[in-house]
Amino acid sequence: MSNTHDLSERAAARRALVVDLMQRVRELAAPGVDRVALARIKDELCRLALRQDLFPVQEFAAIEAGSSSMYRLSEDADHRYALYVSCPQQGRSTPPHDHTTWAVIVGVRGREHNRLYRKTSVSADGHTVMVEQVDSFDVVPGSGLALMPEDVHSIHLGDDGPHMNLHLYGVGIEHLHDRSAFDLQTGAVRKFPAASGVKLAEGAL
Ligand SMILES: [Fe+2]
Repeated sequence: MSNTHDLSERAAARRALVVDLMQRVRELAAPGVDRVALARIKDELCRLALRQDLFPVQEFAAIEAGSSSMYRLSEDADHRYALYVSCPQQGRSTPPHDHTTWAVIVGVRGREHNRLYRKTSVSADGHTVMVEQVDSFDVVPGSGLALMPEDVHSIHLGDDGPHMNLHLYGVGIEHLHDRSAFDLQTGAVRKFPAASGVKLAEGAL
C-alpha cells in the first residue's frame, strides 16, 4: 500500500473515491450477491467510470498481449472485492468463458464488444459443454455489464481504442483458478487460467 502523502493529487483523489466505492460494494454484497445486488454494484461502479479525468491514458497505457491487461486499484487482504482498470491492446479477444465469481465491467474509454452465451448441453463427465450466443452488449463509457459466476461471455475489441474499462470481481482475477473456456464448435472445455502480471495502479489499496 502506498503512503498517501506521496501520491499525486490525481491518485489521491482516485484512491479516496475507490475507498468509498469499495465500502459500498462490500455492504451491497454482504447479504449475498444476486442480479439485483449486482445491478446496484454496477451503478456504483458507473459513477467512478465517468471520472475519466482520474484515468488518463498516459497513466493507464494499453498493456500488450501475453499478460493480463489489468492495473489493480483495490483488493481486500483475503483477495475478495478486487477492482481493476483493464487496458487491453486493440484487437484483443477472448474465447467464451465463465468467472467462478461475480463480475462487473463498466466502460471508461472506447468500446468493448461482449458476446453473451447460454449453455445448451453439458456432457455427463462435464468435459463437453455446448454454448450458443444469445445476446451481445457494447460496454462504452457510462454503461456496463454484470455477470453472475456461471454466466459465459467473450470479449472482442476492434481498432477503436484506446480501450479502458473498470472490472470488479468478487474474488481477485489472480486467484480464479477454476475458470472454464468453451470451444464454440466442439464444446471442449479447457481451463481458462487465472490472470498473471497484474500491474499496480498508483495508490492501489
Ligand atoms: Fe471475462
